[in-house]
Amino acid sequence: MSADLPGALAGDRKDDHVRLVAAQHAGGPRRNGFDDVAFLHHALAGIDADRVDLGTEVAGARWPLPFYVNAMTGGSDATGRINRDLAIAARETGVAIASGSISIALDDPSRLPSFRVIRQENPDGFVMANLGVERSPDDARRAVEVLDADALQVHLNAVQETVMPEGSRSFSRWESSLEALLAAVEVPVIVKEVGFGLSARTLSRLRALGVTLADVSGSGGTDFARVENARRAGGEYAYLAGWGQSTVECLLDAPADAPTLLASGGVRGPLDIARALALGARAVGVSGSFLTTVLDEGAEGLVARVRDWTGQLTALLALVGAASPDRLTGTDLVVRGATAEYCRARGIDVAALSRRSEPPAGAERPPSERNPE
Ligand code: FNR
Repeated sequence: MSADLPGALAGDRKDDHVRLVAAQHAGGPRRNGFDDVAFLHHALAGIDADRVDLGTEVAGARWPLPFYVNAMTGGSDATGRINRDLAIAARETGVAIASGSISIALDDPSRLPSFRVIRQENPDGFVMANLGVERSPDDARRAVEVLDADALQVHLNAVQETVMPEGSRSFSRWESSLEALLAAVEVPVIVKEVGFGLSARTLSRLRALGVTLADVSGSGGTDFARVENARRAGGEYAYLAGWGQSTVECLLDAPADAPTLLASGGVRGPLDIARALALGARAVGVSGSFLTTVLDEGAEGLVARVRDWTGQLTALLALVGAASPDRLTGTDLVVRGATAEYCRARGIDVAALSRRSEPPAGAERPPSERNPE
């Protein structure tokens, strides 16, 4: 992500991130906010799996699958190889893919191949370029050009910058910088967090600034406060671990005037994808979990993982009676635990979520639901 560093050190930072994120995810998936959300089981709600279509509309395009490889890496030889594996898996499965922040290669063009490999391996897929919000309009145009990108992700990472030893401490110009980036590129712009969440106020503000797509990227998965703190000799920001709102909290809190929502942060498998879609996300991004898959099992392993998740997600939609991802927003959800506590504190009515499939009062019930007596 951002910060000015001499070339070699910047590449080291990207390798550090991968190493520290892998260490964070070692030991397998951990409990997070997604565990507080359950589909209310209706024993007669199911449909046939062959009626389920997982396709979704994002950024003016039809994605065959409602989940994608979210922003991660590039900038060194090792991270270039990771991008190659991620891109091969995207090509083989049809999932959309984002690069890591391209800033490092705009500052040092010798690093461009570690990003370009994404488009080379995946010439026809949906590819997103990624850049920090503080970069110039010219940088945004170049980032899109480097990848022949279908969309530009712009990341907001104030917590990470705060903990990063070489990070920025000046955030007041981010809104005006974002407006300039929005005006600079022709492709759709997706504004994203990096694992600390977008609040209701931020989402409304983004919409007012003209943003049409936002990835809430909340807490519960990869924690960049911990990653950057591990890179500090003194480790003095350990107390910021866990900062921010979980992905589930962000989705529950999203205001009516939010941009179209994508979700990421702590997604561990098909059930978390279904939960995020049911909470209103148009598609769901996965970083840490897919990174560990390619590190352990290469591109082939990620292809198998994506196919596995696709099959299971189709089965889950059939189970809850949703023929498509958007139909999940009509299913009943029960919210418990710390997430319910968050909703109480924020005045969010979770009881209404558990009754979304009920016909409105006074409406005639369909014949199958009528009691014959
Ligand atoms: C990231 N992430 C990220 N985000 C971004 O917008 N630009 C970037 O350059 C990076 N770099 C990066 C490197 C690595 C190794 C990881 C794992 C992640 C953040 C990522 O896109 C996502 O928002 C968070 O990681 C939360 O999702 P997960 O990891 O919990 O699925």
